[in-house]
Amino acid sequence: MNLKIAVLSGDGIGPEVTKESVKILKAIAERYNHTFEFKEALVGAIAIDKNNNPLPDATLNLCKNSDAVLFGAIGDPKYDNNPDAQVRPEQGLLKLRKELGLFANIRPITAYDSLLEKSPLKKEIIQGTDMIIYRELTGGIYFGEKKLSKDRKTASDLCEYSQYEIERIAHLAFKSAQTRRKKVTLVDKANVLETSRLWRRVVTDLAKEYEDVALDFLFVDNAAMQMILNPSKFDVVLTENLFGDIISDEGSVIGGSIGLLASASVGEGTALFEPIHGSYPQAAGKNIANPVASILSAAMLLEYFGLMEEAKKIQDSVRVTLEKNIASVDINKENPTSTSSIGDIIAQMIILKDEVICNSHLENIRLGNSVFL
Ligand code: IPM
Ligand code: MN
Repeated sequence: MNLKIAVLSGDGIGPEVTKESVKILKAIAERYNHTFEFKEALVGAIAIDKNNNPLPDATLNLCKNSDAVLFGAIGDPKYDNNPDAQVRPEQGLLKLRKELGLFANIRPITAYDSLLEKSPLKKEIIQGTDMIIYRELTGGIYFGEKKLSKDRKTASDLCEYSQYEIERIAHLAFKSAQTRRKKVTLVDKANVLETSRLWRRVVTDLAKEYEDVALDFLFVDNAAMQMILNPSKFDVVLTENLFGDIISDEGSVIGGSIGLLASASVGEGTALFEPIHGSYPQAAGKNIANPVASILSAAMLLEYFGLMEEAKKIQDSVRVTLEKNIASVDINKENPTSTSSIGDIIAQMIILKDEVICNSHLENIRLGNSVFL
């Protein structure tokens, strides 16, 4: 398959982790005879520094003319701590989502058996967790009208949803449930918010088209609690933009590190694949960040194009490295492996036809004696 992939690595650890997922995609291309063409473009704080625009036209055009976008991370403390900044890195990502019509953000949360001990939650609680969050991504309070009074003492953000916006993501969530454990949980705040009551009505109606899928409802405050008390009972979680943002970070604790969680944003235009973690500026440039979330996002990219065997190869290789405790410092504090070595190891596992890579070979790569790339 030929794929044109726009690489928007962005800020903080974004460039380091994206470099590894590109490495992995190149390994996949080599092993399975695909042609992936990568083109880089600026986004986020680095684009503001260079162009005074977090999403330059050239970047947007490249994305629109590509088959997929591989996204790193955006954000910089100099904006986080300045509420008066007019231009912000996050605007780049929000505009990109809107321009590409990426209304559904898909975030799988899995508890790896080999990492059960690493989670701050008890092993018995997280064992068997396998949920997928469908977060609405181009509506709600993120995109509603924003106001600040002249005296700057009152502000508001409008939360608005239409039936159409709810239906199109709900269909995706129900279709996903049909391939899984056939359960959708709608997370809302229907006891308080009118938009949430609209979500309930629309989703309840639409559920009639999916008789094999069970639908239940949770208020978001209760859902936040249930995800920690009993995460394995969730299958597909469907929710609006802001609630999805919050509960997906919460869900990352289940797997042991936010550095493991991948996501796909899909909709009308070019699909985008990105780790759910942020730019983690404290770790930038140190070769210590966890590249797995970005690497698994690359696997989601391959799945999106129907390259299931290739995606599975990446997922299996990641699983093996975690089983062997080959992991960055967020997971393996005693003997961490660097960002680039994790990428080298996984790339080797993909390229070598010999499925069994002996431990000493892995140890050599871990120590930087890699012959790859
Ligand atoms: C995410 C991020 C973004 C969001 C930020 C960077 C705008 O937190 O993708 O979850 O809030 O959607
Ligand atoms: Mn977030």
